[in-house]
Amino acid sequence: MAIQTIKRVLVVGGGTMGQQISLQCAAHGFSVVLNDVSDEQLSLARTSLVKFATQMAAELQLPQSEIDEALNRIEWIADPAAAAEDVDLLIESVPEDVWLKRRIFAQFDGLCPLHTLFTTNTSTLLPKELAKHSKRPRQFAALHFHPNVWDSNFVDVMPATAADPELADILRKFALAIGQNPIMFERESRGYIINRFLFGIFRQALSMSAQDIASPEEIDRAFTGVLNTDAAPFRIMDRVGLDTMLSINKFWCKRLLYLPRLDPTFRRNQKLLESYVARGHLGVKAGRGFYQYPESKTDGQSSHK
Ligand SMILES: NC(=O)c1ccc[n+]([C@@H]2O[C@H](COP(=O)([O-])OP(=O)(O)OC[C@H]3O[C@@H](n4cnc5c(N)ncnc54)[C@H](O)[C@@H]3O)[C@@H](O)[C@H]2O)c1
Repeated sequence: MAIQTIKRVLVVGGGTMGQQISLQCAAHGFSVVLNDVSDEQLSLARTSLVKFATQMAAELQLPQSEIDEALNRIEWIADPAAAAEDVDLLIESVPEDVWLKRRIFAQFDGLCPLHTLFTTNTSTLLPKELAKHSKRPRQFAALHFHPNVWDSNFVDVMPATAADPELADILRKFALAIGQNPIMFERESRGYIINRFLFGIFRQALSMSAQDIASPEEIDRAFTGVLNTDAAPFRIMDRVGLDTMLSINKFWCKRLLYLPRLDPTFRRNQKLLESYVARGHLGVKAGRGFYQYPESKTDGQSSHK
């Protein structure tokens, strides 16, 4: 492949994940460009990213100087053409909408240098569903991060079926260079590994809440208490963002419509998620989701309703 070493990274989409991915790359010495739809959106992203940086510094006990240096390595550029200049790796992290993602890849194919590697942070799509729209299927992979990125430290590396065999190793080395443990895939898998487990758990948790079997707090308490784990389903969903959860649920709902026997769980879950999203209760990023969060906190810890 034309590129072996990645120096400059473009993150397209400055939401929850785009901010954390940018911060992780910058904190490990990479030059980062963060692109979003407008300067206003980038300004919101910047405020939120600085909060993530403060949280990361506290949790990893990093000196403020290191955080300041990392923040200085991030450029905030709304103009796609300017953002694409000289980048070696593009990480797409826009909302989970296949048409939007395809448009983004087609647009940036015309703007990025020929050597730029293209990756997606998609939760539910397969690389091959996006790769041909980038017009560079040999340089295309999913690079899928887990929140909070500095804490989870695992990233899925899933090259497109048509990718150059060298791509996996280049991305594996990049993952290690940004302090992440790469999970390497032999084949494309919808939902990677962990999401395939998690979606089953989320689906059951939402279904129990939608049927008023128990409150989100009680379902979380049962799960964490009995299994002796910190991983509480509703708290994780709040961290993911309930708008993102809704998109993912809609995706599965649509797919199931084509099956002969429609599972009603997805429809009930969709209604429940829609009721939260309609009130702006999007989870941690909005200060309120299934739980209520102090405005200043972004760590998934909450005060109770
Ligand atoms: N939230 C999670 O926990 C999580 C975890 C892993 C993967 N993902 C995946 O990551 C992706 C992003 O998720 P998120 O939760 O960060 O979403 P988000 O809604 O928080 O952020 C998306 C960002 O993309 C921006 N955007 C929209 N259109 C754009 C365009 N044309 N050009 C540039 N920017 C644009 C939006 O303004 C927004 O800032 C999705 O594919 C999601 O499935 C999410």
